[in-house]
Amino acid sequence: MIVEAKGLKKEYRGVRALDGLDLAIAEGEIYGLLGPNGSGKTTTILILLGLTEPTAGAVRVCGHDPVREPLAVKRLVGYMPEKVGFYEELSAVENLRYITRLNGIPEGEARRRIAEALEQVGLREVAHRPVATFSHGMRQRLGLADVLVKRPKLAILDEPTSGIDPEGAAQILDLIRRLRDEAGMTVLLSSHLLHQVQRVCDRVGILHRGRMVAEGRVAELTASGGYLARVGRASPRLRARLEAEDWALAVEEVGPGELALTLAEDGRPALLRFVAEEGGVVLELRPKQPTLEEIYLRYFRE
Ligand SMILES: Nc1ncnc2c1ncn2[C@@H]1O[C@H](COP(=O)(O)OP(=O)(O)OP(=O)(O)O)[C@@H](O)[C@H]1O
Ligand SMILES: [Mg+2]
Repeated sequence: MIVEAKGLKKEYRGVRALDGLDLAIAEGEIYGLLGPNGSGKTTTILILLGLTEPTAGAVRVCGHDPVREPLAVKRLVGYMPEKVGFYEELSAVENLRYITRLNGIPEGEARRRIAEALEQVGLREVAHRPVATFSHGMRQRLGLADVLVKRPKLAILDEPTSGIDPEGAAQILDLIRRLRDEAGMTVLLSSHLLHQVQRVCDRVGILHRGRMVAEGRVAELTASGGYLARVGRASPRLRARLEAEDWALAVEEVGPGELALTLAEDGRPALLRFVAEEGGVVLELRPKQPTLEEIYLRYFRE
């Protein structure tokens, strides 16, 4: 595991930001840390980077403890913060040059990496313009270039697509995908836009009030309990009987004598019996597949 955290807790003077968080990310994965505002995404990231200390729990990143060896972790990890800051009067190239010097990358090698990174993020043509003239989306791209010149084993990107138009966001996510595929980089990205990052992530975790409330492969998270049924030749009497049951979570008339139901798993035998007794017919009965979005919204709405 390139990232491993167990029982992470973080309290900021009375505010519980993390409440026993476990996290494990394998090498080469793209992991999406999702959650509404204030759920603890940035706090988790800062702890992984050794920029803040957990109140309790254990962390290892690339084999190092960020609390004890923050410099070792910083060397191996590329980090794009929520709000990327640059030297405004300097150009994109000059800003990146500053980063490569800070990281002790030799001049010739630095020049090559900077040219390549700017090309990858689509900023080659504005490479020599002062950053002060950059739009928000251009700054986000430069933030990503900032990570790329380090050629990190692990990239931690805090809301890399925030404030970018959908097309720009899709481009950034495609680039992240490509970097993983071609350079074998592991990526942890945070977002509150599930539908946007869903397609690039191998796995996602949904944070809610500092706890992981759902985690898994995108496909796995779409399968869980409950059934959907469609009933034909439904008399008003059958409808009334169904509506009186606790296991019938929703009953809706979708056509003449036709009902659509959402039922709890344990309601299946009773449904079949009721329908038979009342002279109806079960047209369809299948497990309900809540989308990841539904799971997410359940927590997001609060
Ligand atoms: N430095 C701080 N001092 C006090 N409270 C903080 C501090 N940083 C974060 N918090 C609190 O911790 C909780 C988690 O915040 P965090 O920034 O980790 O959430 P987030 O998921 O990144 O949210 P967002 O989507 O808005 O970026 C929030 O209740 C927040 O108010
Ligand atoms: Mg945040």
